[in-house]
Amino acid sequence: MRTIARRAFCVTHQPIFEFLPGMTVPPDDPPLPCGYELVYPYTLAGPEALELFPDAAKTYKHLCRWVERGARIAVIAVEGKIAHHCVVHTGRTASLSCAPNSLALVEGQICVKYAETPPAERGKGLWPAALRGIVRHERSQEGFAGALTWTMSDNVASMRGMVKAGFVYQKSARVISVGAGRVWYSCRFYVAEAPPLK
Ligand SMILES: CC(C)(COP(=O)(O)OP(=O)(O)OC[C@H]1O[C@@H](n2cnc3c(N)ncnc32)[C@H](O)[C@@H]1OP(=O)(O)O)[C@@H](O)C(=O)NCCC(=O)NCCS
Repeated sequence: MRTIARRAFCVTHQPIFEFLPGMTVPPDDPPLPCGYELVYPYTLAGPEALELFPDAAKTYKHLCRWVERGARIAVIAVEGKIAHHCVVHTGRTASLSCAPNSLALVEGQICVKYAETPPAERGKGLWPAALRGIVRHERSQEGFAGALTWTMSDNVASMRGMVKAGFVYQKSARVISVGAGRVWYSCRFYVAEAPPLK
């Protein structure tokens, strides 16, 4: 009974970080390790691309769903394998308005989410490098209105990457979600909180 209740209801704290159009992208520090290459936007090449992803079938299907809805993908590849991937949502990504990820984007604004570096590749600066590359590309496009990203308040590795890419803490949200499986409804309340990283 308690398990059912836990699956059906959850409260999360989500610090939101922002990169405004006038801000500066920090230098690549550290640079990508030798042989690693950022590809953005990355075209999902079809079923053969499935082989590239560490957690193949699940990740690939998940990314295809986002792309169909208008999102863009960034990957860092090494020796034909994907060492990092993340999803860049645009205002056209319908799912952004669905629970539990609701965060309305204005025209020209992007939201970078669903970042994943497989355990063997972590700690090499791939996530901040992907963020820096995405922002550099996006700000060169007409109408760029800034970038957002958010994570859970206990995800220090994720937040440190955001800061290394020049993002600044904006505000925190408390999200109350109710649902099960793929169907979730949520309310997002913005709350005053101290910045989550010292
Ligand atoms: C969050 C995440 C994407 C960061 O990716 P990354 O490419 O390892 O990023 P970085 O290389 O900048 O490392 C981030 C921090 O993890 C630390 N780290 C180092 N080695 C690590 C390892 N083997 N395992 C885990 N973390 C490690 C790094 O030291 C770094 O901290 P620092 O800034 O104090 O040095 C990755 O940890 C991940 O995929 N986590 C699971 C999914 C997730 O939480 N996604 C984020 C959703 S927003």
